[in-house]
Amino acid sequence: MKLSLETRDLARARADMLVVGRHAGQARLGPELQALDAALGGLLSRVLAVEKFEGKAGQSAHFYSDGRLTAPRVLVVGLGPKRDAGAEAVRRAAAHGARRARDLGASAAAVLLPAAGVPARLRAQAVAEGAILGTYRFDKYLKEKNGKVLGAVAVVEPDRRQQGAAREGVRLGEIWAQATCAARDLVNEPANVVTPASLAARAEEIAKAGRLKIRVLERDECATLGMGAFVGVAQGSQEPPKFIHLTYAPRGRARKRIALIGKGITFDSGGLDLKTADGMLRMKDDMSGAAAVLAVFQALPRLRLPLEVHGLIAATENMPSGTAQRPGDIVRALNGLSIEIGNTDAEGRLTLADALAYAAKEIEPDEMLDVATLTGAVVMALGLGVSGVLGSPDAVARRVLGAADAAGERMWRLPLHEEYKEGLKSDVADLNNISSQRGAGAIVAGLFLREFTANIPWAHLDIAGTAFAEKELPLGPKGGTGVAVRTLLTYLMRLAGRR
Ligand code: BES
Ligand code: MN
Ligand code: ZN
Repeated sequence: MKLSLETRDLARARADMLVVGRHAGQARLGPELQALDAALGGLLSRVLAVEKFEGKAGQSAHFYSDGRLTAPRVLVVGLGPKRDAGAEAVRRAAAHGARRARDLGASAAAVLLPAAGVPARLRAQAVAEGAILGTYRFDKYLKEKNGKVLGAVAVVEPDRRQQGAAREGVRLGEIWAQATCAARDLVNEPANVVTPASLAARAEEIAKAGRLKIRVLERDECATLGMGAFVGVAQGSQEPPKFIHLTYAPRGRARKRIALIGKGITFDSGGLDLKTADGMLRMKDDMSGAAAVLAVFQALPRLRLPLEVHGLIAATENMPSGTAQRPGDIVRALNGLSIEIGNTDAEGRLTLADALAYAAKEIEPDEMLDVATLTGAVVMALGLGVSGVLGSPDAVARRVLGAADAAGERMWRLPLHEEYKEGLKSDVADLNNISSQRGAGAIVAGLFLREFTANIPWAHLDIAGTAFAEKELPLGPKGGTGVAVRTLLTYLMRLAGRR
């Protein structure tokens, strides 16, 4: 999709479909729609009346402009109640409008969604994100593809004083959304295609395109460095593991050094503690954290932030076999802690343990964030719509929540309740990888991870419920959601002092 800024007013905007928005419960049209209605000789208000258009989110109506506008058709979409107005209302209306325009056969849309109180830059960014995310499809394996494609979207901003801000919004929105779609693609690819080696190859491509530094450690090197926890998970699989380390360095001095760590289990069968058929059905998505981190590195070169950012992915499958790790095995992580394998299906925390310890030792970042489809327990706690955030000190977790809020991703904090650490005790090793106590699985996993952070400020995003949509969402179809990409990018922008 080609995105642009349209500086002409609505009546003269060049497109084959105008997409305009209207709040619910609004008695009169806002100034932009009033002008449009005048150009249409009152046709807009008559259509809205006949259609009983209330402006609810998800509602839309379209009509022929009868030669009175440059665009032959107009689509009105609901922005929802004015009191809920915000960037997310715009994003969702843009997604709905772009999808509807496409399905009605439009190939170029011009969009103006005048939501109450949303500044020009954020509004333009939200329209760009919504249009791209809302029309995302993963159809590469289908013989019969839906031929309808919305090839171009113009964000309308006729106000001269706002055009600089709107142009920046369109640019950022495009970067945010393209990165999110790249993450979706990686998650949607099946596990016979996305292997640890193919993740590493993808990382090499991203590094080449963005002139980033990259190092991929093979199994032997990981073992030599002391990553016994990661290598232990990998030992049951025919696919060789890869430890990926990407580095983005700014031209000038870096304000901060950050490590982003993504869980990269390309397929989680559970290992010898094998999952049920239902339980492993979706487990190609167990590399969604890695996909998010790779997507961020795809976007970073275009943002030129004064930050040094490291991306780490301990990529492997978790498979049962004659060489697989056994329940009761004891491994040693890079930071020296020994771990008893209480359950081979709690593999994510083992791979992350070594990635966190590697970051602490080799990178010494100011902060680190990990993103992982880590626990079924977070799905029990927060469902399929909200990601869990844990971390310490409080400031880091709070900043993640702030960034998520600004990005329009739903996240909620869970406490690293000290007393639950008791459950991770082992009789024969420093730690067990599962708890002997009942409940709070997402918190217990967070407490386990914290043991490998060397007290570096850290936050953990558990996206087990949110990485994959089982039904269509306002911003995308079923399948990989690309969750956390926009939150991470917003987080980094804020650390860099932008906005
Ligand atoms: N990848 C899973 C977590 C998961 C579960 C993601 C459901 C998405 C949906 C993880 O590796 C796992 O298997 N966790 C176990 C841990 C348990 C054995 C302590 C779980 O949550 O059941
Ligand atoms: Mn597992
Ligand atoms: Zn897993």
